[in-house]
Amino acid sequence: MKPSPWWKEATIYQIYPRSFFDSNGDGEGDLPGITSKLEYVKSLGVDAIWLSPFYTSPNKDGGYDVADPRDVDPMFGNLSDAKKMIDVAHSLDLRVLVDVVPNHFSDQHVWFQAALKAGRGSAERSRFHFYDANPDGSLPNNWISLFGGPSWTQVDDGQYYLHLFDSSQPDLNWESPDVAEDFDKTLRFWLDLGVDGFRIDVAHGLVKEDVLKNHPDPQSLSDALLLHFPMEQEKRYALLQTVPFFDRQGVHDIYRKWRTLFDSYADRDVMAVAEAWVHPPVNATRYVRPDELHQVFNFDLLDAPFDASNLYDVISRSIELMKTVDALPTWALSNHDSPRVASRVGEQQSRALSLFVFGLPGSTYVFAGQELGLPDGVIPDESRQDPIYFRSQGTQKGRDGARVPLPWNGDSAPFGFTSATPWLPMQNSWKELTVDKQSADPKSSLNLYRNALNLRAEHLVNNGNIEWIESPVHGSKNQALLAYRRGDVSIFMNLGDSAIEVEVTGKVLIVSAGIPDGRDGKITIPPVSTLWVHH
Ligand code: NOJ
Repeated sequence: MKPSPWWKEATIYQIYPRSFFDSNGDGEGDLPGITSKLEYVKSLGVDAIWLSPFYTSPNKDGGYDVADPRDVDPMFGNLSDAKKMIDVAHSLDLRVLVDVVPNHFSDQHVWFQAALKAGRGSAERSRFHFYDANPDGSLPNNWISLFGGPSWTQVDDGQYYLHLFDSSQPDLNWESPDVAEDFDKTLRFWLDLGVDGFRIDVAHGLVKEDVLKNHPDPQSLSDALLLHFPMEQEKRYALLQTVPFFDRQGVHDIYRKWRTLFDSYADRDVMAVAEAWVHPPVNATRYVRPDELHQVFNFDLLDAPFDASNLYDVISRSIELMKTVDALPTWALSNHDSPRVASRVGEQQSRALSLFVFGLPGSTYVFAGQELGLPDGVIPDESRQDPIYFRSQGTQKGRDGARVPLPWNGDSAPFGFTSATPWLPMQNSWKELTVDKQSADPKSSLNLYRNALNLRAEHLVNNGNIEWIESPVHGSKNQALLAYRRGDVSIFMNLGDSAIEVEVTGKVLIVSAGIPDGRDGKITIPPVSTLWVHH
């Protein structure tokens, strides 16, 4: 039997390059900094790294505003630094995924600059979405940018261009053959340099239809699109099914072509994961049909409350959904766009949740710093950089808190991250969270991750589906207990404040907090803790 490809049940470590490690003393992380820390990454027990963009960019949106997708921004180094990073990662048996940003370019990209010069009706403008105002002077449509404010900006000759994100991120028009051709070139460029695959930014956004049609309730839609905006679930779901600019059928034609390109690298197991937040959730399965992409992000755990019933629903639904296309789900508790899990649900809760998720089928994404139990940074408004903060006139604080640099060593900020002032402030209160401190403490979050990821590789991956033992619809119906069995391992999560005794025989492999008490076929699971039992 052909062995399962590496990405089926991988642990993928997301690095935000600006915040990982600064090798040249400018306060910003860089590629040589990442290379110098790959042994650390390897020590976590992960299979691959995914790097957020490090391409030439004015950095208006953390590098997701790409001015040259086939070069490295000087802030991060150069192409030979990228090559070296890939080679060193491979020598450590780590795969490398890079971001590709096909929905938009930076306004500093040569194409957009040429479009500005070439004027109305030109071939240069046809690579973007340029329109005139309506005869009554109103904007071409009423869509609201995902970062707040109108999604249209006017240029000198009076025309407007569409940008679903910041005004510095003009959306590309995928009806122009130049666009598809250029992205083929970009994919090949990075594959030829040695990467193992891609994370596709806004994968559901590329194709636009009916650009001149208004949405009936753009403000509510815009609120519904903010993951953490409080809104009644049913209302949100109904609104999200009306997004006019996402998840059009045409995107799948693009991914079928990309799949052929990926598969043409026949000696490699190239993979791609789609960032596609679509509704209804069943639509996500279309991105991972056998002739399309390999994985699609599952965002459900990024805002799931620490509650047994909700977690049971989210986890079982995700697994069942992906089964319909013979794919496996993906899991993420944190990323660079959402509050860090330790801040969102609490430190001990986040450890328990991590251990519970690490046993599940499919690939797990770990955002750098998550292994340290790092909370969100406290960012004074004057240090904020996220365009969301500026475009919403400060009503949305944005995502800088999750993007704080990593604390490596020492007793005060910047904890060895840089010899200069870090690009975002770091907190002195992280003294006990540094990599050095935690490496020396067998009970630290870092060592919990290392042990758990090694045990995951040894006992859990490629071991088929899970069987629920305890959930709101299985077993004892203890409101604070969730448990499943996979292969020879049973995984129990106690979400409550009191210890829970369960009947199970076997050896405790790992526990996220507290000391389990086991005898006579029973084990006591400590409060707010997850425990793995090997039968
Ligand atoms: C999703 C990325 O994760 C986010 O950081 C970025 O702002 C938007 N896409 C726009 O590229």
